[in-house]
Amino acid sequence: MSDPTKTRKTVLVTGGSRGLGRHTALAAAQSGFDVVITYRSQREAAEAVSSQIEALGRKAAALSLDTSDVASFDDFATRLKHQLRAFGGTAKLHGLVNNAGIGLDASIENTSEEMFDQLVNIHFKGVFFLTQKLLSLIEDGRKDCEHLQRSGTRHPSRLLRVR
Ligand SMILES: NC(=O)c1ccc[n+]([C@@H]2O[C@H](COP(=O)([O-])OP(=O)(O)OC[C@H]3O[C@@H](n4cnc5c(N)ncnc54)[C@H](OP(=O)(O)O)[C@@H]3O)[C@@H](O)[C@H]2O)c1
Repeated sequence: MSDPTKTRKTVLVTGGSRGLGRHTALAAAQSGFDVVITYRSQREAAEAVSSQIEALGRKAAALSLDTSDVASFDDFATRLKHQLRAFGGTAKLHGLVNNAGIGLDASIENTSEEMFDQLVNIHFKGVFFLTQKLLSLIEDGRKDCEHLQRSGTRHPSRLLRVR
């Protein structure tokens, strides 16, 4: 008989404490995935989402992460590895949803360099280097990344999408 823990699949959703990330995390759990979500400031909200996922019969965890802080990604990867091992199964990720982000409510005239840098750090630099850092944890990660880079050159809007 096959070991059922080997068939468990886990998705990481950044910014899963609220909004679209929360809905994505719950939808993933409803589809049968265990889910790790991240939060930046709203720990209690993230833990509530974890509890909702567990109520659906899936494993869940909420980890802190600031996706604008590339220097913190080593520590995050270590914490994530421990969490995946605690989940059991293959200790791999089967999906990465780079959702964490902010909205900038400013016109082009009123956008400062600091606001621009914050946006780029979260939505582009952080997404790129977090994905790079987690490649070894993603099942078939190298294959997916090749696809990401290839499609990104021709379709820039797809550069930020990782399945
Ligand atoms: N809603 C829309 O109409 C819309 C349209 C286009 C694109 N988007 C994009 O879709 C994503 C989700 O949007 P949403 O409306 O659901 O956002 P939201 O409700 O404001 O939630 C944002 C999530 O991202 C997290 N987050 C924010 N800054 C972060 C950082 N520096 N590092 C790590 N996590 C961070 C937040 O964590 P905490 O709550 O813990 O602080 C929260 O979990 C965003 O990237 C947004 O730009 C949204």
